[in-house]
Amino acid sequence: MSTKPFLCLGIESSCDETAAAVVDSDRNILSHIIYSQVPEHQKFGGVVPELAARSHVLAIDDVIRRALNDAGKTVADIDVIAATGGPGLIGGVLVGWMAARGLAQAANKPMIAVNHLEGHALIPRLTDDVRFPYLLLLVTGGNCQILLARGVGDYEIIGQTIDDAIGEAFDKVAKMLGLPYPGGPEIDRLAKLGDPQAYNFPRPLCDKPGCDFSFSGIKTSARMTLNKIARPLTESETYDFCASFQAAATDCVINRLRNAFAIGLPVTALVVAGGVAKNSMLREVLPALAAEYGVKFAAPRLDLCTDNGVMIAWAGIENFKAGNIAPSDFAPKPRWPLA
Ligand code: KG4
Repeated sequence: MSTKPFLCLGIESSCDETAAAVVDSDRNILSHIIYSQVPEHQKFGGVVPELAARSHVLAIDDVIRRALNDAGKTVADIDVIAATGGPGLIGGVLVGWMAARGLAQAANKPMIAVNHLEGHALIPRLTDDVRFPYLLLLVTGGNCQILLARGVGDYEIIGQTIDDAIGEAFDKVAKMLGLPYPGGPEIDRLAKLGDPQAYNFPRPLCDKPGCDFSFSGIKTSARMTLNKIARPLTESETYDFCASFQAAATDCVINRLRNAFAIGLPVTALVVAGGVAKNSMLREVLPALAAEYGVKFAAPRLDLCTDNGVMIAWAGIENFKAGNIAPSDFAPKPRWPLA
């Protein structure tokens, strides 16, 4: 596309990160600011929605100001303002959306309501120039899906979890082990020190056809194993437990992706996105799987896997090009499936 490059300010506030970024349509990241609320929620073992919304209110103006300053731009220089319009914790989404709307109305700029999940889905197109159609493994704290990404706003679900999201399973098992929130990165870190065969966790649905996931069985098995041991695990047992759980979850992902490839979809790439795309074991095994099926592999760099403003700005750019301007009465949505 040979249109003149344009600038997008992206604002994200759907969970526990207040973030803003300025990105241009030539794929340059001009700024990338994240204020993480993780320490505020840690003592509760998870995100407290009311606390999150209040924290977004306190942080949002400064985060947007810093994103503009770092980019060396003012609102007048920005061509498009994009904000997460859902899905997510609605109090937080509203904070980001209203801040974006205030700016857009004052400066007379078009607005894009970005589907947060599409933000995750499209970011590898910024970082790795991935072309449609691609097979997308979307793995977050609230989601686990295999999608066929055909174009902007054009997704087909190939498989999805029938119970827990994968990140949720990581976080809950970590909590059982007394590890701090969020547990995914902790399990990843400790698993490197353990034996993945020490505990025999199930691989739910892996003996069945199809591409759906189930993680609640692994989680229950983890709970029952701990109940049976009936004492706190030693350090090396904890490493083994983390390694065994992570191996079971990864085997499920690989098994389901193999079934997805077996459908014979005409994809150019395998793309992993979302917070769990930070997982080092997934990042190790997925490139080999993609190579086996003769497609390119792409994963966003680590700081673009978890929630951030860059992915919202980039999805804003892609949607602006597609003409998807938000109506002035757009209402943020707590639920907004991609397909
Ligand atoms: O995409 P994200 O920032 O938020 C949602 O939109 O859900 O993902 C957060 C999830 C959490 O469940 C967190 O534990 C998980 O991503 N996560 C990881 C790793 N880093 C973050 N899970 C496994 N291994 C990691 N290294």
